[in-house]
Amino acid sequence: MSAILALEAKMAKETLVPADDRSDTFTTEPATPAPEARVAKDTLTITDNRTGRTFDFKIEHGTVRALDFRQIKTHDDDFGLMLYDPGFGNTAHCKSAITFIDGEKGILRYRGYPIDQLAENCSFLETSYLIIYGELPTKEQLDQWVFDITHHTFVHENVKKFMDGFRYNAHPMGVFISTLAALSTFYPEAKQIGDASCRKHQVHRLIAKTPTIAAFAFRHMRGMPYVYPDNDLSYAGNFLNMLFRVTEPKYEPNPVLERALDVLFILHADHEQNCSAAAMRGIGSSHADPYCAMAGAAAALYGPLHGGANEKVLSMLREIGDVKAIPEYIKRVKNKEVRLMGFGHRVYKNYDPRARIIKKIADDVFEVTGRNPLLDVALELERIALEDDYFVSHKLYPNVDFYSGIIYQAMGFPVELFPVLFAIGRSPGWLAQWEEMLDDPDQRIARPRQIFLGVNERDFVPMEQRK
Ligand code: ACO
Repeated sequence: MSAILALEAKMAKETLVPADDRSDTFTTEPATPAPEARVAKDTLTITDNRTGRTFDFKIEHGTVRALDFRQIKTHDDDFGLMLYDPGFGNTAHCKSAITFIDGEKGILRYRGYPIDQLAENCSFLETSYLIIYGELPTKEQLDQWVFDITHHTFVHENVKKFMDGFRYNAHPMGVFISTLAALSTFYPEAKQIGDASCRKHQVHRLIAKTPTIAAFAFRHMRGMPYVYPDNDLSYAGNFLNMLFRVTEPKYEPNPVLERALDVLFILHADHEQNCSAAAMRGIGSSHADPYCAMAGAAAALYGPLHGGANEKVLSMLREIGDVKAIPEYIKRVKNKEVRLMGFGHRVYKNYDPRARIIKKIADDVFEVTGRNPLLDVALELERIALEDDYFVSHKLYPNVDFYSGIIYQAMGFPVELFPVLFAIGRSPGWLAQWEEMLDDPDQRIARPRQIFLGVNERDFVPMEQRK
């Protein structure tokens, strides 16, 4: 029996049980409840005014099951009621134990640990371990983890050749996405997604190789020779080495910039069910290998409404150019001619806690690199926006991307590399979401429904009769 048939049979067994004395009341509770529990407290009672029938649905974790609504029908052939939720504004598509966000209060926690504590005390690889395995590593576990990641940073020489094929001015995010997908052809065993040890191997490879691919994409864009990974350096330090080393025999990263980059990766490491995590889960739900799934997630990240926003923030700040031009720009935003990039978030209706930490990092970075003149524009823009009625009433606050771009630029990263930096940081999150999805017995292939509003049926029209 197919999974859907089994589920529907289960629903049929569990449902249409009288909830109380009302003969036309139905419930998803088990068939023979104790009299006092007949209408359980944690239920939702719905009356379909088309038929007058009433249904009790179980509420669990503040949620009702969308499939329960399929029992609500006007006649036997009726497909049943569906929930319409474009953009998944109020639909939980999974249970997750990875990241908690309270957007109203501006809280972000990975596996229970507040983001500011992790940013203060952890390395990115330590945070990645936490996100993927659920607990902070012991010293031995961390040493092994760092060793495993460090020893998977090289890419096959053919990957290099493959990357050489891109046009000289190829956007590094396009190169990054394509090369991630191409890794699938180098590691065909990755298809064994049910084998935990095989999965672990791919997780090591993906976290290890994303900085290498990103750095090669950058060097290709600059027409510079690729720099191989240096195993003596930290994750962020080695990335800087692969990006910026020229003729020096041994690259020594600036410790302030190395730490700043590591913290930026931590801040981006996961963000529960966003567009790219949903893409990772959605593609992974068809049992595609993790390279293809992560290429899809990175593609979702690329858009300017998601991880591509930091690139747009910089273009916007450049376009504004001077603090004097800000009031005019704000007017255009309020007239809905343009959006204030780096502001607003589907979930945060308060200051994004990551933006607060990033603002602090900016001070450290600018002490090394010198002040980015765009910072003054950004600070003034934020000040004006936070006092303006439009932004206050729409609960629009700076998000993670508002300041990250200014820091990246000061550190010498070209704007095109910004979404790639985001993707490196997000890799452990995508992989943790993917593994959680695979281990969850509730999960099936992602397959949304639609409301069909097209032409129902008509006869074929031969060419000569078409108008
Ligand atoms: N500037 C001006 N107005 C905005 C902005 C903004 N940045 N964001 C939302 N609004 C307004 C909308 O015009 C709309 O106004 P209305 O109700 O008067 O019509 C209202 O706020 C709600 O906007 P939606 O687009 O419905 O909000 P949604 O939750 O779908 O969008 C999003 C969230 C995409 C992040 C949006 O705020 C946006 O476009 N921001 C700019 C891009 C950006 O910074 N993205 C990065 C997000 S963080 C990340 O992905 C890492």
